[in-house]
Amino acid sequence: SPRTGIVIALDGPSGSGKSSTSRGVATRLGLRYLDTGAMFRAMTWAMLEAGIDVHDAAAVAAYATTPQLVSGTDPQAPTIHVDGVDVGEAIRGEAVTGAVSPVSTVPEVRTRLLELQREIIGDGDIVVEGRDIGSVVAPDAEVKLYLTADAAARAARRALEEGGSDVAATEASLLARDAIDSTRKAAPLTMPDGATHIDTTAYTLDQVIDQVIALVQAVQGSE
Ligand code: DC
Repeated sequence: SPRTGIVIALDGPSGSGKSSTSRGVATRLGLRYLDTGAMFRAMTWAMLEAGIDVHDAAAVAAYATTPQLVSGTDPQAPTIHVDGVDVGEAIRGEAVTGAVSPVSTVPEVRTRLLELQREIIGDGDIVVEGRDIGSVVAPDAEVKLYLTADAAARAARRALEEGGSDVAATEASLLARDAIDSTRKAAPLTMPDGATHIDTTAYTLDQVIDQVIALVQAVQGSE
C-alpha cells in the first residue's frame, strides 16, 4: 500500500477494553486515534433527531448520506460532530445505545462510514477501534488485535463508566448488542485473519497497553 504510517486495528465486543487500550496506545506512541463506534453512534443520533424509525432499514438507508460527520483524532480528547453539533455526550445516552445496533446492520450506513473511515486513516499513524477494522476497514493494518473479556467483567466496567448503573441490566444490554453485531450479514464482529487475541479479563489496563506496544515494536523491528 502507498501508506507511509502504521495502522493498528483493535476489534472486539463492547466493554472488552478497546477504547481505553486504543487511547492509551495512541497516546504513548504519539499516534492519532479513531473510534468508529462513535461514528455509528453519531449516525444513529442523527437518525433519531430526524425522526427516522431505526428499524425501518429502507428509511435508514435513504438517510445514510445526509448527516455530515466530523471526527477529531486526538487520543486525549477525541471529538465527534454531526452537522456542526458536538454530540460527544449525547451519543453515550440510552436512546443512542439502544438504537445503534440496528442502524449498524444497514449496508448503506456501513458503506458511507467506511468511506469516511478510509479518508481519516489516510496515510496512517493511527489506532482504529471497532468491530470490523482488521477484517473490512483496514485488512492491511500492520498490527491487528482482537480484545475480549468475560461478560461479567465487561458489564462491570461499562456500568462503572456509566456512573454505577445496574450491572445485571448492563450485562443484558451488552449481550443483546453482541448478538446483533456478531450475526448481522454486513461486516459482522469477528476475529480478523492475522489478529492477536488478548483476553483482558485478568489484566489491568496498563498490562494490556504494554502487550499491544510490545507487539507493535516487534512488527516495527522486523520491517
Ligand atoms: O464500540 P461501541 O459500543 O461504541 O459501538 C457501538 C455500536 O456500533 C456497536 O454495537 C456496533 C456498531 N459498530 C459497528 O457496527 N462497526 C464498528 N466498526 C464499530 C461499531
